[in-house]
Amino acid sequence: MKKYTCINDINNISDIIKEAIDLKKNPFQYENIGKHKTLVMLFFNSSLRTRLSTEKAAKNLGMQVMVLNVNEAWSLEFDDGTIMEFNTTEHIKEAAMVISQYADIIAVRVFPNLINKQKDKSEIILNSFIKYASVPILNMESATAHPLQGLADAITVEELKVNKRPKVVLSWAPHPKALPHSVANSFIKTMKNLAVDLTITHPKGYELDSDITKGVHINYNQAATIENADFVYVKNWSNYTDYGNILSEDSKWMMTQEMLRNAKFMHCLPVRRNVVVEDAVLDSDNSLVIHQANNRTYAAQIVLKKIIENLD
Ligand code: CP
Repeated sequence: MKKYTCINDINNISDIIKEAIDLKKNPFQYENIGKHKTLVMLFFNSSLRTRLSTEKAAKNLGMQVMVLNVNEAWSLEFDDGTIMEFNTTEHIKEAAMVISQYADIIAVRVFPNLINKQKDKSEIILNSFIKYASVPILNMESATAHPLQGLADAITVEELKVNKRPKVVLSWAPHPKALPHSVANSFIKTMKNLAVDLTITHPKGYELDSDITKGVHINYNQAATIENADFVYVKNWSNYTDYGNILSEDSKWMMTQEMLRNAKFMHCLPVRRNVVVEDAVLDSDNSLVIHQANNRTYAAQIVLKKIIENLD
């Protein structure tokens, strides 16, 4: 693997899931593969799970890890040809090359601004690192994608499915803040590559990028969609058409135990209790959120292993 910036960088998802499950049984079986290799993790935004699980994954492979909260470093310029006489101090061209002197792999977390759709879609920051760094790039959640979360979720579904072809639902949830589309996008893309029946349910007007949802059934009736589901992934996203806005905070879309019944509950975390999902669901045995968070380590570890195997 040359990089991991979207789920499509995986050639065969079934194989990689099997390898991740095998790694989980013995996380130290490749403890020397990353010896004398360094992962530099760059955070433009906050993180709990991604930061800790990716560092743990790298250390399980014997790598050294350096973390930089980018907002504490020099402010970066991403536009080409800019006269840098205002707030930005260092151009990505130098910064990416400099970081490449210290890193064998660079991992980047950078959220969208949810103001300019085209700019977010262009993934200017992630793509600038891909363009100017001389080492592979790992996406730790970008403007439009969270492929490490998508892979962890796929591992979780494969591990815990009871039916050969489970019914999986992605259900929109209310949230007081405008949130990105990245988790939903990567979940949909990943599930499209698995043997599952996927349906998306959300209020009218919350349609995601049609390039991503193409071929997936959308049902505006949440209760009917969730009936007989095996896995229900609950996630808020802000409006995609009226970009970055919140059209509905309809609390009826909050996931309840009554609605969920015996289905397994999934969420990437962090989650706002009794806004996105009620306590009874999160505190029940059907909640998979901790299992998903644990699988973040093995998703990152299998991806890092594949990238290390391809280093020059
Ligand atoms: N799910 C997830 O990416 O969590 P963090 O934002 O805490 O990294």
